[in-house]
Amino acid sequence: MNLTSKQIKTINKLEHHLFALFKDEASGHDFGHIKRVVGLTTRLLHEPADAFIALVVAYLHDVFDDKLTITSLSFDVLMTQWGIDLEDSHEQIERDIKTIGYKGGYQTPSRSLEATIVSDADLLDSMGAIGIARAFYYAGFKGLPFHDDTLMGVVATNYDDYRNLKRNAIAHFDEKLLKLKDAVVTPKAKKMADQRHQILKKFYDDFYQELHEGSIIQYFEHDK
Ligand code: ADP
Ligand code: NI
Repeated sequence: MNLTSKQIKTINKLEHHLFALFKDEASGHDFGHIKRVVGLTTRLLHEPADAFIALVVAYLHDVFDDKLTITSLSFDVLMTQWGIDLEDSHEQIERDIKTIGYKGGYQTPSRSLEATIVSDADLLDSMGAIGIARAFYYAGFKGLPFHDDTLMGVVATNYDDYRNLKRNAIAHFDEKLLKLKDAVVTPKAKKMADQRHQILKKFYDDFYQELHEGSIIQYFEHDK
């Protein structure tokens, strides 16, 4: 990966500050998610993408997110208080960050190559075993049941519902997780997405199979 030593220092400083900011965040946007998206981004990076831009976007992609509790960070704070030098990429970075986020699939902005790579990395982290863990963790955090019979079939069909509708955690598989395989764009990410999709699908099928097995009360007649 092509980075100048100054850029490496900037990235390290950014990570240090973000770690401090995110260590108390519990909505599933924990620092671990950020680090995985950064790690996946480095695996997916390919020419002619600018590595510095992609990495900074990966680190910051959830920091200004609409549903996060962190509201104190701004580019101003980032550059002046933290002393992060985004060189001449500030504008592209800010633009790119706004294009990341699945948002229920209801908004599909056009993305730069760097943002496309980070978006794929972000989507991959919602898939597979980690994706399953995150979905149930998020639902628990939001006070949503993982499965309540009376909410069967309730799925979000617009962005507002996607954020606010009361529904089962497993519904998130129908509205988002099982669609991600087709939302991933870059070739390497597609390959990884195929594997992670299998894990999601197997879990989903097993989940309903087990619900079914537990749904019928067996009475044993016991005549004297
Ligand atoms: P998005 O990427 O759709 O904007 P987030 O990624 O910010 O949403 O959500 C954080 C994590 O929680 C992701 O793994 C996402 O799949 C999961 N998640 C989001 N909404 C729900 C929901 N209603 N139920 C279960 N999991 C959810
Ligand atoms: Ni994210």
